[in-house]
Amino acid sequence: TVLVVDFGAQYAQLIARRVRECHVFSEIVPSTMPVAEMLAKRPKAIILSGGPASVYEPGAPPVPDGLFKAGVPTLGICYGFQAMARELGGMVANSDIAEYGRTDLTVVDEGTLLAGLPAEQSVWMSHRVTCSAPPAGFMVTARTASAPVAAMEDPARRLYGVQFHPEVMHTEHGLTVLRHFLAAAGCRPSWTMVNIVEESVEAVRSQVGDKRAICALSGGVDSAVAAALVQRAIGSQLTCVFVDHGLLRKGEALQVEKDFVAATGVDLKVVDASSRFLSALDGVTDPEEKRKIIGREFIRVFEESAREIVDAHGEAVEFLVQGTLYPDVVESGGGTGAANIKSHHNVGGLPEDLKFSLVEPLRTLFKDEVRRLGEELGLPSEIVWRQPFPGPGLGIRIIGAVTRERLDLLREADAIAREELTRAGLDRDIWQFPVVLLADVRSVGVQGDGRTYGHPVVLRPVTSEDAMTADWARLPNEVLQRISTRITNEVAEINRVVVDITSKPPGTIEWE
Ligand code: XMP
Repeated sequence: TVLVVDFGAQYAQLIARRVRECHVFSEIVPSTMPVAEMLAKRPKAIILSGGPASVYEPGAPPVPDGLFKAGVPTLGICYGFQAMARELGGMVANSDIAEYGRTDLTVVDEGTLLAGLPAEQSVWMSHRVTCSAPPAGFMVTARTASAPVAAMEDPARRLYGVQFHPEVMHTEHGLTVLRHFLAAAGCRPSWTMVNIVEESVEAVRSQVGDKRAICALSGGVDSAVAAALVQRAIGSQLTCVFVDHGLLRKGEALQVEKDFVAATGVDLKVVDASSRFLSALDGVTDPEEKRKIIGREFIRVFEESAREIVDAHGEAVEFLVQGTLYPDVVESGGGTGAANIKSHHNVGGLPEDLKFSLVEPLRTLFKDEVRRLGEELGLPSEIVWRQPFPGPGLGIRIIGAVTRERLDLLREADAIAREELTRAGLDRDIWQFPVVLLADVRSVGVQGDGRTYGHPVVLRPVTSEDAMTADWARLPNEVLQRISTRITNEVAEINRVVVDITSKPPGTIEWE
């Protein structure tokens, strides 16, 4: 394993992902973890991440005590590089000139990390503090116009540092730099999908033994892949429950009921609870209230089915399978905790008397890995490549009260938008493409020879890396035009199509 020591930047996860792209397992640890604890994980290499602080700020996180003496090959990036240089006796100072963004790097001596790379290359920088002389034992391998030491290494101690960010896309040869480091550290590229499947299946088997497990399918990637993996491990000891709350998009319920079952052979219990959800939502317009009602009803329905499954098998169900991903684990593991912007709904908070132990086979994986795992497990690509979709579904994409008729309208409009996006080959360029029905708004239009008085829908295509921030997607005009024409022609009652051009922040991705 490679440990990525997190100094509090959003870059740590990206570094960990890039290391895994090199087929080496990586794990993120906080910079407050004592070195002994790190060494207990038997790391082959350590990477010190960038951080928001400057090494000179009061309260700047220190390098864990004794880290550079531990004998583990270590790469410092940005803040990690400066901290390494300073700790080992290099000259590091606040500089007048900051470097942000794309910067030209000049290789002075290829060394290990820059071996075989062009003498001039473009890298991504973000720093105000500059290292002007490396610590004793280090050689300088690259510089920029304002950073005399932009990369350095001490091959004898296998310590390496780069001021630039090799993990970001804009650094031309970033991945090669990381590969060179991993190779120098003796990491073997053994983190492959085949191995992940084997290891995870083994782990689930030994955790669950001969007991029973249940899993709630949402129609999304995470729960589907988690279920498929557990199914492969324990077969008929697993029962999946699919609560159809009636707020899914067109065709999605069928995808779970037919395609998913066909691909995995999973024992599936489908509960059509749409009437129940609709009556619970009757007349409710407040977004938070909608979310709470949907979350609450979901838990109730799921609980009822769990009891039925227990009764049917005449034995306890000990395990609940959940599709928790690594970013959730990292984010809930510490830090300041983000403000509660919206109450998210997932299968948490089950009642006290229904006690389960959790099986979370995706706990160490990033989303892109989960998708590849899903492919490896033979899941249909509609499920594997599905864009994120909120648990409360279309319920929070109808602005106003939710009714069956409004859901039908929105489902049609949404299906058209998705079809046209797919037809344009843009599915994987767009993070998410909500279509929102402004159900309480009417506007005047003209169609054929008549005046219309219908509802608008809002197209909200966004690009994003992780949904924390997002930008509105610049869809080609022809695609927008086709969507607009088709929706207004094919969906009676919708006579206007508008595009949301707000980034996040200040807008959120969903409208509610
Ligand atoms: P916002 O609207 O806050 O959404 O920018 C960020 C991401 O989260 C999704 N989302 C949810 N996902 N349950 C979920 O599972 C929810 O209640 C929920 N609300 C928002 C949203 O679709 C986007 O990807």
